[in-house]
Amino acid sequence: MSIFIKNIKKLVNVREAAPSAPLRGEEMLSLPCLDGAWLLTEGDRISRLGRMQDLRPEELEALERSSDEVIDAEGRMVFPSYCDSHTHLVYAGSREMEFMDKLRGLSYQEIARRGGGILNSVELLHNTPEDDLLQQTLVRAHEIISLGTGAVEIKSGYGLTVEDEVKMLRVARRVEEETPLRVRTTFLGAHAVPARYKGNREGYVDEIVREIMPAVAAEGLADYVDIFVEEGFFTVEDASRIFEAAAKYGMVPKVHANQMSFSGGVQVGVRYGAASVDHLEFTGPEEFKALQGSGTIATLLPGATFFLDMDYPKAKDMLEYDLPLAIASNYNPGSCPSGDMKFMMALAMIKMRLTPETVLNAAIVNGAFAMGVASEYGSITPGKKASLFITKKIPSYEFVPYSFTSQLIENIILNGKIYG
Ligand code: NIG
Repeated sequence: MSIFIKNIKKLVNVREAAPSAPLRGEEMLSLPCLDGAWLLTEGDRISRLGRMQDLRPEELEALERSSDEVIDAEGRMVFPSYCDSHTHLVYAGSREMEFMDKLRGLSYQEIARRGGGILNSVELLHNTPEDDLLQQTLVRAHEIISLGTGAVEIKSGYGLTVEDEVKMLRVARRVEEETPLRVRTTFLGAHAVPARYKGNREGYVDEIVREIMPAVAAEGLADYVDIFVEEGFFTVEDASRIFEAAAKYGMVPKVHANQMSFSGGVQVGVRYGAASVDHLEFTGPEEFKALQGSGTIATLLPGATFFLDMDYPKAKDMLEYDLPLAIASNYNPGSCPSGDMKFMMALAMIKMRLTPETVLNAAIVNGAFAMGVASEYGSITPGKKASLFITKKIPSYEFVPYSFTSQLIENIILNGKIYG
């Protein structure tokens, strides 16, 4: 299958040579684009691109004749798919009643201490058979595709037993079989201490290391390992233990870090070569220095900061420290029931004063690095996967985060095929 897209008003985030490392600091401020462009896909890849004015009439005619599909994108723009590097897409049911509790003044931690929060989702997931869980997850998977996402990281962490963690990660893998999304998976057994280990956190970490992680690894279900380092959840010492055990299975660390306090999550992530440390509401110079020069990406989850009504991370300071920033949705039933990357970018601009160029790099290029798919996703580059979307007629790329609730996507192409 080949698709020829002609008369593209602007090809956004087009990079002839794909970046070999995440963009950091000043690099995040520029967004390479090509005006008046065409693009050809062949099979599942982007094959060639160029400027319309450089195409001779006979070349244009040959491209039109030889392609299986021709799309006239007059007045419309082409973006690479978003790479959403932090989600909890696999969950059962919903938690809107806790949302009401939050509005009545209870904090995220208070709800968790009462046995709600993550443990509420654990109970719901335990009572949901795998196929039903898959169907619930596929609804969200198709929702995020329609919003422009082409690659997604999905975590476990609502299972907390061998059977249920494995069930979650199997469902995450099945999302890749059942949809055109590229899926990377993360084992997050250390998301909360289950009720059966109340008062015995170490006992649960033992079970993770001795039983749950080996079972997950035996089926090759996880690319990454993650831990929620936070007061009332897990400690820096637990993280060391889990990362050391996970290294044997080739699972790369990630951390839910510094969401509610200066927890040390950033530092332990850097020490173990984490691909990313995520959240970062409670960070300052100490954390930024720890991240500086490391290979670890600072992933911002502004949807959760918004939904929990907290203060936002100091993203501009992070750029001053030359850090690589990614933006992800954190789609989950507790702190961010949304997978809309456009809204996340808008929040990052409005609340953290980032530029449109920076957020489009953070949600696409650095998102791809944060989930290890940058060789195939994260920019419009010949040889990469043809995973992109074509907008409706819009005046500028700034218009995308600006019109933060409008549906602006007209065509979606994933792995070289027209979606929908
Ligand atoms: O990334 N903070 C921990 N985990 C999720 C929330 C999970 C939940 O509340 O269900 C997050 O915000």
